[in-house]
Amino acid sequence: MCGIVGYIGDQQAYPILIRGLHRLEYRGYDSAGVSLISEKGDLNIYKAKGKVAALEESCKSQDLTGTIGIAHTRWATHGEPNQVNAHPHYSESRNLALVHNGIIENYKSLRTQLEEYGMTFASETDTEVLVQLIEYVKKDHNCDLFTAVQLALNYVVGAYAIAILEKDHPDQLVCARKGSPLVIGVSKKADGRTEFFLGSDATPIVEYTNQVVYLQDGEIAIMDRTGRLEIVDLKSTPQTPKMATLQLNLDQIEKGGFPHFMLKEIWEQPNALRNCIRGRINPANKDIILTGVLDHKERFLNCRRIIICACGTSWHSALIGKYFIEEACQIPVEVEYASEFRYRNPVILPDDIVIAVSQSGETADTLAAIELAKEKGAFLYGICNVIGSSIPRATDSGTYLHVGPEIGVASTKAFTGQVITLSMLGLAIAKVRKSLSDEMYHMLVEELYKIPDKMQWTLENNKDIDKFAERFTYCKNFLYLGRGYNYPVALEGALKLKEISYIHAEGYPAAEMKHGPIALVDAEMPVVVIAPKRGMYDKIVSNIQEIKSRGGKIISVVTEGDVTVKGMSDYTFTIPDTRDCYVPLLAVIPLQLLSYYVAVTKGCNVDQPRNLAKSVTVE
Ligand code: M6R
Repeated sequence: MCGIVGYIGDQQAYPILIRGLHRLEYRGYDSAGVSLISEKGDLNIYKAKGKVAALEESCKSQDLTGTIGIAHTRWATHGEPNQVNAHPHYSESRNLALVHNGIIENYKSLRTQLEEYGMTFASETDTEVLVQLIEYVKKDHNCDLFTAVQLALNYVVGAYAIAILEKDHPDQLVCARKGSPLVIGVSKKADGRTEFFLGSDATPIVEYTNQVVYLQDGEIAIMDRTGRLEIVDLKSTPQTPKMATLQLNLDQIEKGGFPHFMLKEIWEQPNALRNCIRGRINPANKDIILTGVLDHKERFLNCRRIIICACGTSWHSALIGKYFIEEACQIPVEVEYASEFRYRNPVILPDDIVIAVSQSGETADTLAAIELAKEKGAFLYGICNVIGSSIPRATDSGTYLHVGPEIGVASTKAFTGQVITLSMLGLAIAKVRKSLSDEMYHMLVEELYKIPDKMQWTLENNKDIDKFAERFTYCKNFLYLGRGYNYPVALEGALKLKEISYIHAEGYPAAEMKHGPIALVDAEMPVVVIAPKRGMYDKIVSNIQEIKSRGGKIISVVTEGDVTVKGMSDYTFTIPDTRDCYVPLLAVIPLQLLSYYVAVTKGCNVDQPRNLAKSVTVE
């Protein structure tokens, strides 16, 4: 949550910072702010409640000069989302300005102590405590900013990515991270000049340079106009900056003609999944090669239980992964909400493998869950999308999704990327453990390879969802039902609808309906049923009968050619036939489109739904 941007170089900083904020707005949009050291030498801070556009509007008549600056887009945690609590925050002397992503857990005791020393505070935020603490330490030790930050952060408990400007030193930018991400972009010019860019992720940086340093936990960096980039840890031990080349291009983070990122990302799914399986599925010999598994064959061979930790949509894909791995590998799999797991005292056995599933690779609860598992000696496997993020760095092995950046807050292509990756993982483990017959293994690999084409078919054949979505705009509740592999799809369909259209929706295993939810069904209640002509088809047909006889409106997802469920339904979406275990990859697409068009028709901001942020880097 919260996005940080920074710049030092010879260009005007303000336009770079604003462009960066727009790119990071998916991380939070409660308020935005910018701080610049102007050409006159003033340390200016401008901030506004709401989105980056509101900040731009409010800045129009201000002095926006300066070749060094920091900026922030906020997802509020401490203090309401108003202008006072917006970042950047000044220190008391107004000599420092600071932006922060994360949560300072001991901010109350730090604040009380600083107040006892006579410092006064303007906001309710934990962030202001940081800037005041740094100023206090700087004066107390009579040291420079870089040293003061190193000393001050040793008193701080919590998570942070911070960037700091100092009025009297307009030639240097200091930043630090622990638990929240921070990337430094380095652009060296032919004439020897160097510019530095900062970002909570690489999206504000990619248009200027592809050379980056991912700051590690507990590192503090200083950059200056001479090209100096010095990094130390919290004990002030020098660290060597590790330069990496970005695997990201500008097209990937722009809308490409679509009205919203979410719609673009829904339509990208066939290609995104082709990228995900490329080099991993060999269609010629119907085989899967996952180096993350092959490099640790013994672990997977001897493993007696898998625990998957995740949150939100990633938890739903994890549940599909559980069904797949249990069926294909005959290993017990537990799926845990990372936020619950981390605060229990879970039993972790020496042969357990703990898998973290996370699009961002930065979700605080998932990260904390695997850290706990690591302490207890588990082998950790990460399934993430954002390259170089915290979870892949904390795990022993893993597989990247390679579905490209997901900008829309509602997860779509990352969900299907996670499901297909978990399926490949299940097949790779099954191969190591010889738990499937060769015939079944090759057949499942072959069918998995066909999924991107079947997704394309699904998209092309459900284009008219937009036409009837408006009929559901006024609904107050939706029910989503599925059985087996499609129960998690029901959960995911319901989550997609509620997070972007604010319509209450529940996902249930279809048979559970009789144990309570059926009482809600009346003529006003749309019930979305995932009813492929596979596995438990007859049972789901009975469930549909039960809803119909109580007057519910049936929206079904059926297999191409099915007439029975179609005949019983008020609206039908069609998907091609595939194995039970792969139906979620197709069935979720019409549900994504349904929630998208309902939300758009309602006039909701689908890419930035209220109260949400893309990356939940706080608890
Ligand atoms: O980055 P992660 O996959 O760890 O994020 C987990 C959830 O916050 C995320 O899936 C969230 O539920 C999405 N907004 C759902 O669309």
